[in-house]
Amino acid sequence: MAAPRYKTLVDALASDIRAGRLAAGTRLPTHRGLAAREGIAVVTATRVYAELEAMGLVSREQGRGTFVRDIAVPAGHGIDLQVVATDAVDLNFNYPSLPGQADLLRQALRGLAGSGDLDSLLSYQPHRGRPQDRASIARHLRRRGLSPDPDQILVVNGAQHGLAVTVMATLGAGDVVAVDALTYPGFKVLAEAFRLDLEPIPVTPDGPDLDALAQVCARRPVRAIYTMPTLHNPLGRVMPADERTRLIEIARRHGSLLIEDASYAYLAEDPPPPLAATAPDVTVHVTGLSKNLATGLRVGFVVAPAHRVPALERAVRATIWNTPALTTAIACGWLDDGTVDHLEARKRDDAKARQAIARQELAGLPLVGHPSSYFVWLPLPDDARADRLTATLARRHISVSTAEPFTTTTHTPQALRLALGSTDLDRLRTTLRTVRRVAVEDAYS
Ligand SMILES: Cc1ncc(COP(=O)(O)O)c(C=O)c1O
Repeated sequence: MAAPRYKTLVDALASDIRAGRLAAGTRLPTHRGLAAREGIAVVTATRVYAELEAMGLVSREQGRGTFVRDIAVPAGHGIDLQVVATDAVDLNFNYPSLPGQADLLRQALRGLAGSGDLDSLLSYQPHRGRPQDRASIARHLRRRGLSPDPDQILVVNGAQHGLAVTVMATLGAGDVVAVDALTYPGFKVLAEAFRLDLEPIPVTPDGPDLDALAQVCARRPVRAIYTMPTLHNPLGRVMPADERTRLIEIARRHGSLLIEDASYAYLAEDPPPPLAATAPDVTVHVTGLSKNLATGLRVGFVVAPAHRVPALERAVRATIWNTPALTTAIACGWLDDGTVDHLEARKRDDAKARQAIARQELAGLPLVGHPSSYFVWLPLPDDARADRLTATLARRHISVSTAEPFTTTTHTPQALRLALGSTDLDRLRTTLRTVRRVAVEDAYS
């Protein structure tokens, strides 16, 4: 269904404001001026401004006109997701943490303080990490179905850094990279910084639409395919084994590198083997400890084909020299003593409980999500406006994301992405109840 003219205009102005093409403080045309410019009725122009005001993007000042509001993201928050006010319930960012994790850190710091090699943590480390740390990581990844040689592992400063060094080491400006039509926003930020040419591939319930991908690869030189086969963010999908086989075939046929992001993979029980297990020669596997351990630790890993390791190592050197030794030592200690396995199992249970609450409280709405994931996707009817909904929820001190940060197509679907991992269970339930009420009143009525 085509959106009415005024909605298209609302979307275009909203996107100009968010992208900074219309700067904060800009005075917008009068209602009559907008109507004349766009060839619409004055009453329609008034409606456009009313909608932008409801989204929190413009302010109307009596007698002065309509102005672009300052929507700058406050310090400390991501540039690609919307603002989270300090008093808001955060269903926007996911930082799953369990009670008792601070005690684990206290114990680990005590253990480290008593250990014999503290001096070594004060020096520069090998760019790709110490051999003993890479050996711990290799053992951990074996439990995830991979069998990497420690020499093919690089310790990085979180999965986002792992993706950044992968892009730096393997791609150049103008290179075509196939991505899901809805994908992890951090990859979009990288694509913008490194001037990659993203080619969106529609998503199906099984993952990327492989027919569409094959057609794109036949038409354009796709240098890499960025994919999240296990626990896709934001849709929670797990790609079946036969689809993985076909994806690998397509990548091999066209000489495309597979960039496999497994940041949330631990949440899926018994998934098919990672792409890097089946096709280690054409896959760079990136993952981290943010979602299973703690976001502030900033430790991640990259597993790469041997011939790619030197370029990746140079990219680590160019960006950070080495991942901090202290956090790496703590993380590897937890990999070795079973803490990570234990926390992963507890977080899977925690995510299941949260997902069950979401399914109860949002029952009847067309939710998309994995039964043990920390987020749900809520598609809205075409004529609903996700921005208006998020603005209404923000006024009720609830922060959620629209589809925009996740979208790689020019058309942004109307949807909400709700992160379930950052508030306690009782609050999650009451907050989702409000989300439901507002969504039903605003979008589904
Ligand atoms: C799919 C995906 N990849 C990578 C990252 C980055 O994670 P890290 O905190 O390890 O840099 C995230 C964080 O949300 C993510 O969702």
